[in-house]
Amino acid sequence: MFNLEYEKFKKKNSTSCRIFEESKLFTPCGVHSNYRVHDPFPIFVSRAKGSRIWDADGNEYIDFNMAFGALVAGHSHPIIVEELKKALEEGTIFGHESSESVKLAKILCNRFNLDMVRFNSTGMEVTMYAVRLARAYTGRSKIMKFEGCYHGSNDNLLVSVKPHLSKTGHIKHPISVPASPGLLPEVSKYTVVAQFNDVESVDKLFGKHGDEIAGVILEPVAMNMGVIEPDPEFLKTLRKLCDEYNSVLIYDEVKTCGKWFGGAEEKYGVKPDLKTLGKAIGGGIPLSAIGGRREIMELFGPGKVSHAGTFNANPLSVKAGITTLEKILTKDALSRAGRLGEQLANGYRDIVTDYKIKALVSSIGVSGAVLFTDQEHVRNYRELLRCDFGKWFGYFISMLNRGIIPAATGPDEQWTISVQHSSEDVEKHIEAFKEVASMIKDIKQPLEMVEAV
Ligand SMILES: Cc1ncc(COP(=O)(O)O)c(C=O)c1O
Repeated sequence: MFNLEYEKFKKKNSTSCRIFEESKLFTPCGVHSNYRVHDPFPIFVSRAKGSRIWDADGNEYIDFNMAFGALVAGHSHPIIVEELKKALEEGTIFGHESSESVKLAKILCNRFNLDMVRFNSTGMEVTMYAVRLARAYTGRSKIMKFEGCYHGSNDNLLVSVKPHLSKTGHIKHPISVPASPGLLPEVSKYTVVAQFNDVESVDKLFGKHGDEIAGVILEPVAMNMGVIEPDPEFLKTLRKLCDEYNSVLIYDEVKTCGKWFGGAEEKYGVKPDLKTLGKAIGGGIPLSAIGGRREIMELFGPGKVSHAGTFNANPLSVKAGITTLEKILTKDALSRAGRLGEQLANGYRDIVTDYKIKALVSSIGVSGAVLFTDQEHVRNYRELLRCDFGKWFGYFISMLNRGIIPAATGPDEQWTISVQHSSEDVEKHIEAFKEVASMIKDIKQPLEMVEAV
């Protein structure tokens, strides 16, 4: 059914195909992140501005991937460009602190209700530090994570990220499945896995390993399983259990910190001990942060818990962070982008209803996702696995052919609306989906996934 679309994609993207072939000679799989591979080949981008991206073949797209959610500010926001131009003239890296980093630390502490904060560049680093802090604070070794949640490519947390169903075990007692060769076998022994939105599975793990569990880390909204919100009692129960067992509760907000103004605590009213922030806060420049309770954060220091990084708090990232948070991702701007998010999700909902397509549309703040499934809800990884991924990739390629990058690459990802998207951009996305939906409605059987991400 989607064969014609795949053929059309190849024709429209012959230059990307050629670059991809050359890239594969020098770079494994031709890409610099495993998450960028998809069938038949990824587009190679030549430039981007606002809500638009142009590829090497000159095709123009309205971009709703937005660098996997890192670009809620949109591509090359003019204010960030202006500020960075000035900053470039004044030193790109000092290897010393500056008063500007104090300013950014204050902004982050106020906005995300943190006592203290330290900067890094990527999400992977800050989740690694969160685990280290939790272990140092409690003197314990084990970390609890949730099946299907992704916390970056650090060894401690590369467990049960996208395990094959055959390896996952009982839904209430997921097996810890290493997500990559090359990890020490001990890693999965020290990382125990619970089911998202299932307090019973958490309770059981605490019952079994309670006095060994240093911390519980989760994406408060599971943004690496599409968009799965926590059930009303889920976060509250996690807080209660962490208090009962003296474990550190960690929200990985690398994605959610940019979806609305104040992050998960503001929305759900449950305060964790540590938060990790990343992606959107840098407005397109690498910037991440770990922050939380003073008592835990103060463990960082010479002779205490190691925390380092040559590029930490470099003036370009700091300037981008201040500019993004103060001038661009304001409450008003994020509310407006959030309304566009609702417009897009409602457009999808109307279409799947009109065409009688079995699909679920979820949305939160500036992001949302469509999953092709006849289930009534998708609340955890096991339910995500029952969705039709083959159909999703067919939809993805067909949308690209219509000038829309509908979401980040993969059915476990989502779309992101930036503050530079317009209502017309959203309308064009909806129009393209209408065309693609008219093909999808005739596909009754689940489709084979062409290639796993
Ligand atoms: C929730 C979450 N945490 C951490 C990371 C890792 O961030 P980075 O790719 O910047 O290392 C990601 C990346 O997608 C993420 O979604």
